[in-house]
Amino acid sequence: MSKSTHFDIQALLTTAPDQNLPQWRNLYHQIKTAILTDKLKADLRLPPSRTLAKQLSLSRNTIISAFDQLIAEGYLVAKQGSGTYVANISPDQQFFTPTPTKPPAPKKLNLSQHGMEMAAVKRASFNQTWRYIPFQSSLPDLTQFPRAEFAKLLSQVTKTAAIDQLDYNYTGGLKPFKQAIATYLGASRGVICQPEQVLIVSGSQAALDLTARLLIDKGNDIWFEHPGYGGAHSVFAAVGANFHAMPIIDDQHQFAAAINSCPHPKLAYITPSHQHPTGATMSLKHRQTMLQLAEERNFWLIEDDYDSEYRYDGRPIAALQGLDQSHRTIYIGTFSKILSPALRCAYMVLPPQLVNPFTAASFNAGINVPNIIQLALTEFINNGQFTSHIRKMRVLYNERRLTLLSAIDQHLSQYIKPMSTNAGMHFAVKIIHPKLQILGDTQIAKHLRQNDISIRALSLYGLTPLPPTQQGLLLGFAPFTPAQLTQATVKMANIFTKLCHA
Ligand SMILES: Cc1ncc(COP(=O)(O)O)c(C=O)c1O
Repeated sequence: MSKSTHFDIQALLTTAPDQNLPQWRNLYHQIKTAILTDKLKADLRLPPSRTLAKQLSLSRNTIISAFDQLIAEGYLVAKQGSGTYVANISPDQQFFTPTPTKPPAPKKLNLSQHGMEMAAVKRASFNQTWRYIPFQSSLPDLTQFPRAEFAKLLSQVTKTAAIDQLDYNYTGGLKPFKQAIATYLGASRGVICQPEQVLIVSGSQAALDLTARLLIDKGNDIWFEHPGYGGAHSVFAAVGANFHAMPIIDDQHQFAAAINSCPHPKLAYITPSHQHPTGATMSLKHRQTMLQLAEERNFWLIEDDYDSEYRYDGRPIAALQGLDQSHRTIYIGTFSKILSPALRCAYMVLPPQLVNPFTAASFNAGINVPNIIQLALTEFINNGQFTSHIRKMRVLYNERRLTLLSAIDQHLSQYIKPMSTNAGMHFAVKIIHPKLQILGDTQIAKHLRQNDISIRALSLYGLTPLPPTQQGLLLGFAPFTPAQLTQATVKMANIFTKLCHA
């Protein structure tokens, strides 16, 4: 080993320090870079920590911390009674940012058909710049997330989780969490299930993707709401489903059109509590018809119950799953709208015969939810915080909904007319002004977005172009204060005045 410790180490440590990092971390980084770039040669003995501290005007503790880390990572070797040496490693480029090379042309990616379809999704919500301004839809008020309470529960369950709860979970979710969800769904949504039928997955989107992949082969026919939810459309399109429209006209699902187009689909995707995007609620009679059709024609029903907790007028309508005597309904619910999409936690209630394949596939797909999150949510439900949070949010959102309705009535009544408005976090409006109808909802939405109003056209959700009478706009109200909503409504009225009376 070389014994040379008489060299100017400062001259070798050329990486500029980062003022935001502790001194030991900067020194660690500088020595590591000097080793990797071969400035500090293998087997070189470094000066003792005391000497180095003097040379570099740093504390000895700083030197020791940096050395400890470099020894732990194998860059330095400590020899008892002899000193600290540069390890015998060849300069390793792998930790350096590689020089960017030109990306290959897209056609060379060689993606699978499924891969191309999955990657082709361009949802409007990907545009983050629109997200936090009225009238962004599908967004809860994230400022209301119960941070302190949830942090407390996370800390608590991290301390108390049993050993097997720190392991992989092969059963599609923790038993106590499934139990808590089954009890909650039974009491508040009329869902009838055993806890074993509950499968915990990382979002409704994951649930939909899993369903599409497990039930649909390329070319299989499905009934799909028209207009309908883009997230579901994407995953069914990716597996090559053949879409048959179930038009939503005047708040009603038009089953006859779907039957005419395809008498025997493999499945139907529906949002009966709060149709996405029109906001319609499927009546009890129509729920019964839907179930009867599924039984007679032997298809699966996917009930996406994404924001049903928010119902403002009238009696809550029980989930369709609770009426299903023939075990054909796959029920999906999520914590994204009640708490936060960042939890990535949703649940499926599966017909008994699908529990095993879906559970196994969910593990294979790696869409399980961290056990720690499940445990915290279990506590949150069981100690009553969940239902009181829902109650609080319902009051808050209702106030905002009423403010928006009255602002529309006051400023926009000659241009637009609200459709179903008694549930959820958004409602849709029809375009009633002839000049705006000529312009079409897509152009109107584009125009409004150019003026910093975040809005989506109903046409965005159509399987085929929507006729002018069914076109409209989607107005999210949940995350915005009454003042923001009123202000945006007035702004929209000014834009419409210019468009219609110029
Ligand atoms: C109808 C519908 N289903 C599902 C989802 C997705 O929920 P998650 O965040 O659980 O994936 C949304 C989100 O906006 C939605 O609007």
